[in-house]
Amino acid sequence: MKIGIDAIAFSTSRYFLSLLTLATHRHVDYEKYCTGIGQIKMAVFHDREDIVTLAIDAAEKAMQFIPNKQEIDMLIFATESSFDLSKSAGIYVHHFLGLRQDCRVFDMKQACYSATAALQLAKVYIAANPDAKVLIIGSDIVKYSLKSTGEATQGGAAVAMIISQNPRILELESYSGVHTDDVMDFYRPVKKNEAIFDGTLSAYCYLKSLDICLHRYIDNSALSLKDIDYTCFHTPFCKIARKANRQFFQDYQLEDSLIYNSTIGNSCSASLYISLISLLDNASENLSSKRIGFYSYGSGSVAEYFSGIVNSQYEKMITADSNKNMLSSRHEISFEEYENFSNDTLDKQILYQNTGSVSLKSIENHKRLYAR
Ligand code: HMG
Repeated sequence: MKIGIDAIAFSTSRYFLSLLTLATHRHVDYEKYCTGIGQIKMAVFHDREDIVTLAIDAAEKAMQFIPNKQEIDMLIFATESSFDLSKSAGIYVHHFLGLRQDCRVFDMKQACYSATAALQLAKVYIAANPDAKVLIIGSDIVKYSLKSTGEATQGGAAVAMIISQNPRILELESYSGVHTDDVMDFYRPVKKNEAIFDGTLSAYCYLKSLDICLHRYIDNSALSLKDIDYTCFHTPFCKIARKANRQFFQDYQLEDSLIYNSTIGNSCSASLYISLISLLDNASENLSSKRIGFYSYGSGSVAEYFSGIVNSQYEKMITADSNKNMLSSRHEISFEEYENFSNDTLDKQILYQNTGSVSLKSIENHKRLYAR
């Protein structure tokens, strides 16, 4: 049975900070950000937007491609930016999407790897239940301390994918290479809003895990690197994907898959799949029947290299113009607004517009109230 991604869409903030503005105020050479790190802009979120509002927006776009949303019988919400250790963020999304009540909903966590874990689980679930459709959402907002070395690699977005049999975008292949290792390269203890990280160690672990996963993938699949047409990478910042591509794939084409991430920043669980959307939207050749490799890395760490074959109908399933329009119509904020956005409090009553149709209206007695 062919199983894979039948529909895919993403959403990000309506606001961005230019890294030229950040460089000027932090007295850093802009070349370091745009060439050294590979980022041009980063998504910045105000306090009416969170992982749920982003997720609803992305999911509504993806669901336009299926005739009946009641076919979805499992919703997996992948995130490391959750505001609740108990209730799934997916339940708010389930409510606003009006999905059926006998739909299983739960969150998944393992840093940026979680949406890939969800994808592999969905594949197994559909193999056992061929008529099922699974909605996977990866939604994250990445914040580092102001003035930290991670500051230029903040960002955020949500991706929504519908997984089913006979997928019209990408058929997942059965082999992969996985690597798990107990490392403290990046973590966010409970009650801390910002992650703690070791940039050098994290980059080392990302590349080392890729090496191991790739060898395991090749052993398990009996394929060679020549059989892979493109690779999409988890992209915490574009330079690391370029380094990985140069080290392991040499002359492979990469830039089309980095266009969106270079102006969004790190979106953790969503990032790898935004690379895929960027490639599908921007590739100069028709991708039908091409094999795309995927490198998923989540600090802590779990990594996986897997692959899929692009379906011949994929061009009917992409929304390149609307994705480009969403990114180009974002509002550029000033440095003062950025510092204000970073100061999390609903009390300041900012009347900014949300990206999607649902906003966080208030938090009363720890209950989050959303409204259209
Ligand atoms: P930093 O200390 O500011 O930068 O940290 P640097 O001094 O290492 O410089 C970065 C690059 O810019 C270097 O190039 C410099 O040479 C170059 P490289 O040696 O790497 O090729 N550079 C310049 N280039 C041109 N003109 C100049 C100039 N100056 C310097 N004037 C870092 C940068 C990205 C490490 C930092 O922002 C950071 O720690 N970010 C957060 C951690 C991170 O993103 N790690 C990635 C791997 S881990 C991962 O992907 C998981 C994650 O997504 C979390 C999860 O799983 O949940 C993060």
